[in-house]
Amino acid sequence: MCGIFGIVYATDRPLGDLLLDAGRRLAYRGYDSVGCATVDAKGTIDLRKGVGRVDEVAERFALGEMAGRRGIVQLRWATFGAPSHENAQPHLDSDGDLVGAHNGNIVNNTVLRERFIAEGMTVRGTNDGESCVHAVERYVDQGLGMVEAIRRAAGDLQGDYAFVIASRDEAGSDGKQPLHAIKNGSGLVVGITPEGTCVSSDLPSILPLTDRILRVEDGEMVTLWPDRVELRRVVDGTLVSREPERFTEGMDAAEKGGYAHFMEKEIHEQPKVAAELLHWLDASPHVEPFLEAIRSARRVYLVGCGTSHHACLVGAAYFNRLAGIPAVPVLAPQFTETLAATLAPEDAVVLVSQSGETKDVLNALRASRPSGARILGVLNVLGSALMHRSDHYLPLACGYEISVPATKTYLNQVLLFLYLADRLRRSGTPIDWERVPELISETLESVDAPARRVAELLDPLAEMYFLGYGMTLGVALEGALKLKEISYAHCEGMLSSEFKHGPLSAVYPEYPVLFVAAPRDAEMIVNHVNEVACRGGRSIVLATEDPLLRRTVDEYVVLPDAGQELTALIAVIPLQLASYYMSLKRGYDPDFPRNLSKTLTVD
Ligand code: F6R
Repeated sequence: MCGIFGIVYATDRPLGDLLLDAGRRLAYRGYDSVGCATVDAKGTIDLRKGVGRVDEVAERFALGEMAGRRGIVQLRWATFGAPSHENAQPHLDSDGDLVGAHNGNIVNNTVLRERFIAEGMTVRGTNDGESCVHAVERYVDQGLGMVEAIRRAAGDLQGDYAFVIASRDEAGSDGKQPLHAIKNGSGLVVGITPEGTCVSSDLPSILPLTDRILRVEDGEMVTLWPDRVELRRVVDGTLVSREPERFTEGMDAAEKGGYAHFMEKEIHEQPKVAAELLHWLDASPHVEPFLEAIRSARRVYLVGCGTSHHACLVGAAYFNRLAGIPAVPVLAPQFTETLAATLAPEDAVVLVSQSGETKDVLNALRASRPSGARILGVLNVLGSALMHRSDHYLPLACGYEISVPATKTYLNQVLLFLYLADRLRRSGTPIDWERVPELISETLESVDAPARRVAELLDPLAEMYFLGYGMTLGVALEGALKLKEISYAHCEGMLSSEFKHGPLSAVYPEYPVLFVAAPRDAEMIVNHVNEVACRGGRSIVLATEDPLLRRTVDEYVVLPDAGQELTALIAVIPLQLASYYMSLKRGYDPDFPRNLSKTLTVD
């Protein structure tokens, strides 16, 4: 949530387009408001910001025309303070000498604001990013230099955050002027370009400028000069020596590559990322320790939120059914509040998070640590907090997922669980892994037209149910989440056998209920479809061809013949596509659904 980017050069130059490009590449982190600040050689701060998406705000305030030698851009996902001009970032201090922006969450913001106001500072909004700037102002006003002031300010700020800040007057003995940034729990990476240095919440905004990357750790701050960076520990100010790395992964992920949206592109990347994950798993020495931790555990908990939780539901079915491993899927905050209290050293907690930064998941990790249980991470973002804090981790190998709705990372989460369960399998026929990427391609092709038809059918309706059973429960929940996330329709997912225990009363003639059926469950699903059909409801089924189902349902989306486990993997694809098409039909931007952000680092 929220994205920041800052850059420093030795001389004034046009910075507007560069900042806008960085902003667009960070838009997946927040798009309630956008702001840019530049500082020129004379120390003049130009601050322009407003509510809306990057291109809207850019046009309203001519952001592209901004110039200077130092620049900051911030993309906001609102937590403290409604989206407004005052709360848009960057923020100035009382006298307009400092300018800064943050991402993250300052949990003692309310107390700090009251203190700053009581001390006579000019506090313009209610946003916690502004508190970061005033926290530094307080110590600058006491006569401290910027580095010391930021270090002291960090002692007053509680929460997980990263922020970037510049002082209009500060200059080195050579006249060059710096930007400072600090990391405490939120992402921060530095890029070193031939002409300047930059810092950002995340790599997509940096990689078009350079592949020389320096990772900042929690509890460190960095001072960026045009020709060098200084890294320090916040706690005692000591300099840290760390060499930049060459980042070799291509940045195609940040481009739409001919697709209309990142979501469409990422859905179509699924065969490729599945193949890459399987290739990685076959070769990696990380897999065996991970497997051993699961194999030897008394109980295995699969813990995540949202889409990652849905992958855990399917994964738990795989572990239980294929490998006889007692795996329990639990939503992360609920795990923290309940099951974490009963953990023992013989247990394993598998924390699943695309971003590896979700606060609810990191809270579950923190709650699990004292028990001595094994902590296993499954994540897409390398270098994330989850990666660093896990005993063992496995990457999802999807490359960047830019679109806010998760698609390819969900598929690879389910694939990873199936791979592990297959390796631990006690009975049944092993999966033919060679076939899997091709099966995903085949599904993408064969379900595209039916998915458009499902979108047509559902589009006129305001509410609907998606039901799954056994292995496909997670798929139905995921389809329902995707649909509501990007089409804003109310779609509830649930276990199909639960429907008769109450929700069935909602059914009236033509009421839409979609079922996801894996082959062995077809007979059971026929019963559930009949319960809806005899009340006049309209049934849509996603399943491999089955004569009984065919005779029972109104609409049939045929899935390729894949067997029980792989059906639970591929059945999500028509639901991803139907959600995408429905979002377009309703005139929304599926990549940036309202009110959301890709990475939720708040409680
Ligand atoms: C929905 C979606 C969210 C995330 C959830 C957890 O499309 O992406 O539901 O799955 O916020 O995020 P991660 O996996 O980063 O922990």
